[in-house]
Amino acid sequence: MNILYLFSITIACGIFGNIISNANPLPYEAIFNFGDSTSDTGNAAFDHPPMDKNSPYGSTYFKHPAGRLSNGRLIIDFIAEAYGLPFLPPYKNITQSQEDIKRGVNFAYAGATALEFKYFDRSGVRPPATENSLNVQFELREIVPLIVESITNTTLALLEEGAVELVVPGNFPIGCNAGLLSMVNSKKKEDYDEFGCLISYNTFTEYFNEQLKNSIETLKQKHHQAKIIYFDYYNDAKRLYQAPQQYGFTSDKVEVLKACCGGGGPYNINEKFCGMPGTTVCFDPSKQINWDGAHFTEASHKQIAKGLVEGPFANPSLKSAPFKIA
Ligand SMILES: *[C@@H]1O[C@H](CO)[C@@H](O)[C@H](O)[C@H]1NC(C)=O
Ligand SMILES: *[C@@H]1O[C@H](CO)[C@@H](O)[C@H](O)[C@H]1NC(C)=O
Repeated sequence: MNILYLFSITIACGIFGNIISNANPLPYEAIFNFGDSTSDTGNAAFDHPPMDKNSPYGSTYFKHPAGRLSNGRLIIDFIAEAYGLPFLPPYKNITQSQEDIKRGVNFAYAGATALEFKYFDRSGVRPPATENSLNVQFELREIVPLIVESITNTTLALLEEGAVELVVPGNFPIGCNAGLLSMVNSKKKEDYDEFGCLISYNTFTEYFNEQLKNSIETLKQKHHQAKIIYFDYYNDAKRLYQAPQQYGFTSDKVEVLKACCGGGGPYNINEKFCGMPGTTVCFDPSKQINWDGAHFTEASHKQIAKGLVEGPFANPSLKSAPFKIA
């Protein structure tokens, strides 16, 4: 895992197609999704050697890896279910009938970044192999305008293509992410908040999200005809760390920050990635927020999706969903 992944999760972006036929009673006729591993339902998996059949990926729901970097359904899967739509087919492997493609396609690709690598080279930003998390934060702030511009450009391009309802999400509280916590590995108590999350990384994410929201607001003023929804991934996911037991997760302050699947260490993250020999899967993945260091468990995806579909973390809110996320 490197710092590029942290940005890549910010570009998940969905277009919701409006209903155009009265014969179709669903609030949304289709979902087209752009993003990275947070919402990739099989594009990267199509290009890479298949995961072992016994891989713990997908084990909770699909019983096989299913092209997803989690133990089960992703946020986008729960959203599709809530709106009565099929799981989005990955564009690389469309095997479904034409009928299904009309109901959505997924262009998300695990490892995608909002910026091309050249921007990282130019800005001199490197993955933070350092203990000084504060310096990293200042270095990262320099490239925020570019990332925001890149996401805004993509949003604008989609509007110009005729998108009528668009979703742009912010970033998750990366300071609570097991992969990042283990990578930064700060020994200073003052670097952490009361929940054990890295303050500077969460502050950075808040800063990034504010910049993104501002840019989207400007875009909205120029495109009144379109509905642009902001998904507040940050606060939606943060409440899970703040009151884990309320959402069915372990209340143990140390356990709750650990990855369910990994090779050991304080956050159950070391050089062995989930699924490699020598790694283990936790007894009950529904009790853990984090799946493999970088990604959430299905249980988290469900809670986050609920917060988006049923509120209050989508602004303005989505159309009301015909199915409850149970
Ligand atoms: C492509 O899709 C088919 C049918 O959904 C699935 O069985 C197969 O595993 C997929 N291939 C890859 C490489 O993901
Ligand atoms: C955004 O679009 C503008 C105008 O097309 C372009 O000049 C700029 O390089 C783009 N920015 C990024 C970060 O892609």
